Amino acid sequence: MSHDEKASNKSGNRLFDDVLQVNLERRKVLTGGLALAAGSFFFGVSGAAFAAKVGVNAANSPKGALRNQGLIGFAPVMLVDGGGAGPEVSSDYDYDVLIPWGEPLQPGGPSFSHPPNADEQARQIGIGHDGMWFFPIKGSSEHGMLAVNHEFGRNQHVLGKPNPEGLEDVRISQHAHGVSVVEIKKIKGEWLVVSSAAARRIHVNTPVAFSGPAAGHSLLQTPAGNEPMGTVNNCSSGHTPWGTYLTCEENFNGYFGAKGDWSPSESQTRYGFSDHGFGYGWHGYDPRFDLANEGYHNEEHRFGWVLEIDPMDAAQKPVKRTALGRFKHEGIALTIGRDGRVVGYMGDDQRFDYLYKFVSDDDHETMRARGMSPLDHGVLYVARFNDDGTGEWLPLTIDNPALAARFATQAALLIDTRIAADMVGATPMDRPEWTTVAPNGEVYCTLTNNSRRTIADAANPMAANRDGHIIKWRDSEEHTGTTFEWDIFLIAKATHGSEQSFSSPDGIWADPDGRLFIQTDGAQQDGLNNQMLVADTLTGEIRRLFTGVTGCEITGMTVTPDRSTMFINIQHPGGGDATRANFPEAFDGITVPRDATIVLTKKDGGIIGS
Ligand code: FEO
Ligand code: CA
Ligand code: CA
Ligand code: CA
Repeated sequence: MSHDEKASNKSGNRLFDDVLQVNLERRKVLTGGLALAAGSFFFGVSGAAFAAKVGVNAANSPKGALRNQGLIGFAPVMLVDGGGAGPEVSSDYDYDVLIPWGEPLQPGGPSFSHPPNADEQARQIGIGHDGMWFFPIKGSSEHGMLAVNHEFGRNQHVLGKPNPEGLEDVRISQHAHGVSVVEIKKIKGEWLVVSSAAARRIHVNTPVAFSGPAAGHSLLQTPAGNEPMGTVNNCSSGHTPWGTYLTCEENFNGYFGAKGDWSPSESQTRYGFSDHGFGYGWHGYDPRFDLANEGYHNEEHRFGWVLEIDPMDAAQKPVKRTALGRFKHEGIALTIGRDGRVVGYMGDDQRFDYLYKFVSDDDHETMRARGMSPLDHGVLYVARFNDDGTGEWLPLTIDNPALAARFATQAALLIDTRIAADMVGATPMDRPEWTTVAPNGEVYCTLTNNSRRTIADAANPMAANRDGHIIKWRDSEEHTGTTFEWDIFLIAKATHGSEQSFSSPDGIWADPDGRLFIQTDGAQQDGLNNQMLVADTLTGEIRRLFTGVTGCEITGMTVTPDRSTMFINIQHPGGGDATRANFPEAFDGITVPRDATIVLTKKDGGIIGS
């Protein structure tokens, strides 16, 4: 969303642009010239060299796919078909619509009406479908819990008017945000919502707990003494080896405003708070979101975290894991590193903000057996990219004397994670979005775009970085070390008339075979709608699998264990305006577009992406 684009990092740390430029030059020298301009995108190393480097674990690869007889076999959606009303899917695939905004969370629940009322919206699917994950029940590929983030919905779309006119309107908007956990089952070939004891909505007014180093700190307490509640702007997500869902709070600043006199603190400035926010107007009727209300001083510190949800237990109180830092969390990709330690990679999506990782102190199973969460005890790092293709993970702890001079406690440091990262010399990036860990250990991150890039070099196809790129790296010590080697995986380019044209990569997921699924969020060329592409990391081939609806974003992806079904999301079809797109369809005479989950299957029953 466009709110990610403003820069609030004035630290003067060296911009990633510079390093990238130097690194491209370096590799150009080493290889005798890369085919930088060949086609509308390029991979950082040649297909063959990359295949050799990748060494994808063949044990994870069904049906000999890694012999590379075509990781990608489907007929692509052609440019000429990818615009229009949409959606459009490869002729080798089918799609269905599941859980549009406003559908009941349980069969028999309140059905969609527009605008909803606040009580009903709290028992219906939210809006702004984004990151999600499928949690199979008993390992099934036909039955499980689907946890879905609801990132945002503008007042005009949700309420049918630009501003709330009272607390009821604010509550409708608040209940449309958050997370849905819904039980779904494939019955006679069709995925349906079924009755569930575990299904629930988590929204802006759901009680939550804090855990980790900042829990209980005075900076998380308000003079009013109100208990912590809620999650907002839930963008992408992650999942843990112990079966929980992690939802990430991104543009939380935009829901706050100031009713009276207020001037921002250093911290509030760094996190982009303003007196009007993004125009939601919650602060006019709900004092929690009024920055000028002294009773709710510190309320804003309660947002910008990663929240852990048990998708199998509706009674579990969701927990904000403060050891993971406070910033505009796009998402989190968890993996298991050396000695069983859990490692999470996280982007802070704003122009010139940073990439982070968290490493737990100990083996995750041992910690959990002791009753400790691995996400409460560990070290948070921020990335620095060096010109020569190496990098360092810089620890954000008060063991660093410079940070100890600025922050009294680790809790205070974590609450102002961005300021701490500024101080250690992290590398400002071009809007870090999703991360994913490939089975071979390489980590990928989408850097969606940054129009402020100014380096003009004919050999560098991302001179203004209008279309974004994808970076990859490999950490030392099986993800737990403090150094890494990095390279550019690809530079996106939206080229008129090109079948490979795409811009603004955002969602990304590496499958076990060496495919990368890439989803876009930004203006595409030739009237193309936002899309999902599949890249073969072994050959560098890329094909378009799905295109969305006019004005929508494609985001979120998760598969069943057998990978025969993938769920993706269509977010803000028509930009919420029915005259642009009325997806999925007029419903009982109601003409409002509805964000929705899409079910993708291959006609031959094969693995999604093949
Ligand atoms: Fe919520 Fe950065 O996308
Ligand atoms: Ca979005
Ligand atoms: Ca995103
Ligand atoms: Ca985006």
